[in-house]
Amino acid sequence: MLFDSHAHLDSASFEDDRAQVVERARDAGVNLVMNPSVDLESSSKVLKLVKEYEGIYGAVGIHPHSASTMDDMTMSLLEGLAKKEKIQAIGEIGLDYHYDYSPRPVQKDCFIEHLRMARRLGMPVIIHDREANEDVMRILREEKAFETGVLMHCYSGSAELARQYVRLGASISIAGPVTFKNARKLVEVVKTVPMERLMIETDSPFLSPVPNRGKRNEPAFVRFVAQRISLIKEIAFEEVAAVTSGNAKAFFGI
Ligand code: NI
Repeated sequence: MLFDSHAHLDSASFEDDRAQVVERARDAGVNLVMNPSVDLESSSKVLKLVKEYEGIYGAVGIHPHSASTMDDMTMSLLEGLAKKEKIQAIGEIGLDYHYDYSPRPVQKDCFIEHLRMARRLGMPVIIHDREANEDVMRILREEKAFETGVLMHCYSGSAELARQYVRLGASISIAGPVTFKNARKLVEVVKTVPMERLMIETDSPFLSPVPNRGKRNEPAFVRFVAQRISLIKEIAFEEVAAVTSGNAKAFFGI
């Protein structure tokens, strides 16, 4: 059994064949999927998805790209959605200094508001950190986010930073780039992080792993990430599948 800890099945790229995508995931042994949201609209879509499909769980929140859409009304609506059944986390939230689609001060405000909401609700958080390592770490510490659970999604930082996160109690989720030829840094990360803190994800529809690089990604492909990790860690594929699924279930309270 595999658990894809991050897939955007609510995305428009799955509009035409979502049911088949979910079926292919099941055929590939991917029985559980965490579907994070990127804004209020996507959070409502995710709520529908989790009602429709067994095995799909959700998170609600505003992605740093959309941080400018945050206001009091949106936050109170999101807090309502966060309490619904099968919504197990707040995310994805964080900072993105690569694209800077929302001004950095606005991104920080939005990130902090979500962390406070997660803390009020006692829920774990799914973190997006792109080229904002220092600010993300500082804010997570200041807001005591590690007390309710932190998952670093599609991890792209150094092995040293991963080690710090593990020490603070966070988990690290590895996505398709670990299968790419130039994945030296990520390979080091996988070697560094103990199995009990690792999760695997696709980040569908983005970042398809080899051998599907460049195509639309889907949860069934998470097995390629698991295969790569089994080679790096020199343990059986089945063990990678079982341990990462168990980690994700425990983290999300499933
Ligand atoms: Ni994502």
